[in-house]
Amino acid sequence: MSSDRRVPIGPFALIGAIILLLLAAFAWAAGWIGRQRINGGDVIAALDYNGGKHAGYRRAHAKGLCFSGTFAANGAGAALSVAQAFARGSYPVIGRFSIAGGNPLAGDGRNVFHSMALLLNTPDGQQWRMAMDHTPIFPVADVASFVALQRATRPDAETGKPDPAVMEPFLAAHPEVKAFQDYMAKAVLPDSFANATYYSINAFGFTDRTGTARLVRWQFVPEATLTGLDKASLDQLPRDYLFREMIARTAKGSSRWRLQLVVANVGDVTDKATVAWTGPHRTIDAGTLTIRAVSPEEAGACRDLNFDPTILPVGIGLSDDPLLAARSKSYSSSFSRRAAEGAGPSAAGEHLRVETAR
Ligand code: HEM
Repeated sequence: MSSDRRVPIGPFALIGAIILLLLAAFAWAAGWIGRQRINGGDVIAALDYNGGKHAGYRRAHAKGLCFSGTFAANGAGAALSVAQAFARGSYPVIGRFSIAGGNPLAGDGRNVFHSMALLLNTPDGQQWRMAMDHTPIFPVADVASFVALQRATRPDAETGKPDPAVMEPFLAAHPEVKAFQDYMAKAVLPDSFANATYYSINAFGFTDRTGTARLVRWQFVPEATLTGLDKASLDQLPRDYLFREMIARTAKGSSRWRLQLVVANVGDVTDKATVAWTGPHRTIDAGTLTIRAVSPEEAGACRDLNFDPTILPVGIGLSDDPLLAARSKSYSSSFSRRAAEGAGPSAAGEHLRVETAR
């Protein structure tokens, strides 16, 4: 009798393959393998997935209003940076108020974000571009988490809210988001673009005339008193409430903010936009931003601008915060897409155009 008993390898191979596959899937989910570089296009795909694609518009902060005005520097900021923007004088600005999200027809009753973008020109030919939100911190600290956030917070078609089945595992994997949620739960939600504080959130490197470098976050603090929207009835807020309010307010007079430069203390976290700087800080009041005119973005000077926050004058540079590079490539991808798509006057801007023409 032959002892040649054949071992059937088929089932073992299958089991082995399944185990390998499970291990690979686990390693991928844990981020051990497959960490491909996330490019600007990946970010835009995630934003389109979240907010729907609206050709010709910014992929984030799609609903906006252009403005113009001046920044009057009082000279005090020169203690931190050689940028001409801090030398005593008055410099023209173009900017844009916006709410977050990719839909240019979205309602204004959202908790995040009220935002201000700014382009400050100085006579030496340098530009300082900024894009700021009304919160001192950001929900996530890196680009992969930003992409995951967009996917997790996509509004459900029926409820209009993120799907808890997707949101819960996201929050479990991203405990850093809690600081932002806690902040938002307590913070007053400004009832005007004019009474919000706008924060750089990311840290930047400032260099003074002696070559001394310091890390700085800044904020534009409004002259107008902060009053809040009723967070319990945001659903009932008229769709363009914030935009119409700003247009009406500007028709009556200008709005002003003080620019405060906040210098990092030793030990402050500078590479994570999720972490606030708490306690006393050296803070310099560098001057006054005055906004005198607004115009709908479809016809205004801000539409075809990319407020890439890494376009900085000599005397201001990047920090070690990885979000800055991620923002730059994403804004650029968004810009080239929307510029190529073109956007004529549209339904989104028409209603605001009528208001500003009065
Ligand atoms: C510190 C955190 C951040 C702040 C303060 C911020 C603020 C802003 C503001 C104010 C705008 C509107 C700019 C405008 O009016 O033109 C904007 C646009 C945008 N943001 Fe952010 N953002 C932040 C983080 C991010 C991150 C992490 C990403 C992606 C990696 C991102 C992607 C975008 C994109 C794609 C646009 C549209 C850009 C365009 O088409 O011009 N943002 N952001």
